[in-house]
Amino acid sequence: MLSIFFPKRRKKKRDGSLPERLPRHVAIIMDGNGRWAQKRGLPRAAGHRAGVEALREVVKACLEWDIQILTVYAFSTENWKRPRSEVQALMHLLVEYLEREVEELHEQGVQIRAIGRISELPVEARQKLQQAMETTAGNRRLVLNLALNYGGRAELADACAAMVRDVEEGKLRWEEIREDTLEKYLYTAGLPDPDLLIRAAGEMRLSNFLLWQAAYTELWVTSTLWPDFRREDLLAALEDYARRERRFGGLK
Ligand code: FPP
Repeated sequence: MLSIFFPKRRKKKRDGSLPERLPRHVAIIMDGNGRWAQKRGLPRAAGHRAGVEALREVVKACLEWDIQILTVYAFSTENWKRPRSEVQALMHLLVEYLEREVEELHEQGVQIRAIGRISELPVEARQKLQQAMETTAGNRRLVLNLALNYGGRAELADACAAMVRDVEEGKLRWEEIREDTLEKYLYTAGLPDPDLLIRAAGEMRLSNFLLWQAAYTELWVTSTLWPDFRREDLLAALEDYARRERRFGGLK
C-alpha cells in the first residue's frame, strides 16, 4: 500500500512557468480513439495504438511537472462487449506497452500499479503487469495507475463483498463501518482521491470511472480526441484547475 510520497519540488516548465497550484493526482478518460481512427479510414485498433503514444507523452509531462499520481482508464468492465478482435488488440497493446516501456519507466522512477478486476485479464497481460508492478514497486516519483477491467460499480461491489467477508470472519465489526473503512477496501486504497479528472473527446459523463473517488474531483472535458491529446492540452487542464476554488461542500 502506498501512503508516503517523497516531498516534491515544483520545477519550471521550459517555455514559461507552471501554475502555482498543481493537482497531486490526475485521472484521465482516454476517449475518442475509435473516432480518431474512423476519421482517417483506419481500423479502430490504429486509434488505440495512437492513444498509447498520447499516453507516453502525458506520462513524460507528468514526470517533468511533478504530478505524483496519474490514473488512466485503459479498459473498462464494459469494454468486453466490444468485438473480440478489438478486445484482443487492446490486450495486445497493453502487453506491448509493458514490454517496451517498463525499463524506461523504471529508470524514470515510475511506480506501475493497476486497479480493476485484474485476475480476469488474459494470462499474458496479467503476468506482464505483475512483473511490471514488482519491478517498479519501490519507485516514488510518479505512480502510473492503470485502470484495467475497471468499473466503479464493480469496485464498490467488490469492496462490500470483502467487508462482509471480514465481518463474517470476525475481522471487522459492522458498527465500525464508516466512509474511511470502505475506502480501505477499494482498489485505490492508500492513494489520495483524484484532484483533476480529464476527459478527452467531449462526452460529459463519468462512464463508471472512479465513482467513489471522484466525489469532489474537478472535471475538465476537452473535445480533443485522445490520440491528438498533447502536453499543451494537459497544461491547459492544469491551468484551468489552478483557477478553480475547491470547497468540498464547505464555504470559502
Ligand atoms: C476509448 O476510446 C478508449 C478505450 C476503450 C481504450 C483506451 C486505451 C488506450 C488509450 C491504449 C491502451 C492503454 C495502455 C495502457 C496500453 P473509444 O474506442 O471508445 O473511442 P470512440 O468513443 O471514439 O469509439
